[in-house]
Amino acid sequence: MKTLAAHLDGFQPKTALVLGSGLGGLSALVDVDLRIPYSEIEGFPESKVSGHTAELVCGSIGSHRVVILSGRVHYYESGNPAAMRKPISALNDVGVKRLILTNSAGSVNKDMAPGSVMQIKDHINFAGTSPLIGEPTDARFVGLTTAYDKGMRKTFRTIAEREEIEIHRGVYMWFGGPNFETPAEIKMARRMGADAVGMSTVPEVILARFFGMDVAAFSVITNFGAGMTGNELGHDETKEWAPVGGAKLARLIEATLKEGF
Ligand code: HPA
Repeated sequence: MKTLAAHLDGFQPKTALVLGSGLGGLSALVDVDLRIPYSEIEGFPESKVSGHTAELVCGSIGSHRVVILSGRVHYYESGNPAAMRKPISALNDVGVKRLILTNSAGSVNKDMAPGSVMQIKDHINFAGTSPLIGEPTDARFVGLTTAYDKGMRKTFRTIAEREEIEIHRGVYMWFGGPNFETPAEIKMARRMGADAVGMSTVPEVILARFFGMDVAAFSVITNFGAGMTGNELGHDETKEWAPVGGAKLARLIEATLKEGF
């Protein structure tokens, strides 16, 4: 077992990408130099959620050096909101400045159907916990006024327009999961100003801001929220629909990393 820095042995990625449920296909974007199973990296927990892999992929997109976290652990797997602290801290240690997070999410917005991609512009922490609980230093008082970096948001939008990739912009509301929401919760989410609901990402955003990284985040919409259609929700729907929006998001991330940053 080695640290991430020891594995990378001088390879210096500026950008890291975290792949959400069913979005493992995005790792095909990379000219791969190195694949490291999480089981061989100190502090990298393995997700046991189906549809998630557990490896770090290092390589390049164009001339841009990246690491891809193909798989993440979720709050609902252990009840620990800081489950991703060690991996994000290790990325910071090797010089990663930008974290791009992706997730699968439910839409609470009738105009945003399964297969859509939403750029997250802000979030609501409805799970009500924080990965910084227990952090003893004043650094725990992290400001989140500009959690989602404005410059990166603009670059992604400009390139999406040019490449004619439709992206929505909206607010992501974090529910702890692993159960899906009720129809009443989905109505509440909409009234509170959410556009999408999901079970991840918010703790990673808080951790990345704690370490001083710039953050961009995207939701791939896999379903309408509970009660918005006649269907019952389940994980199969997430796995089935994630690749549809995932393909659009892959095109956007590839074009942006090749020229935007
Ligand atoms: N709710 C919460 N998380 C999700 C959903 C949902 O409807 N779809 C995919 N992840």
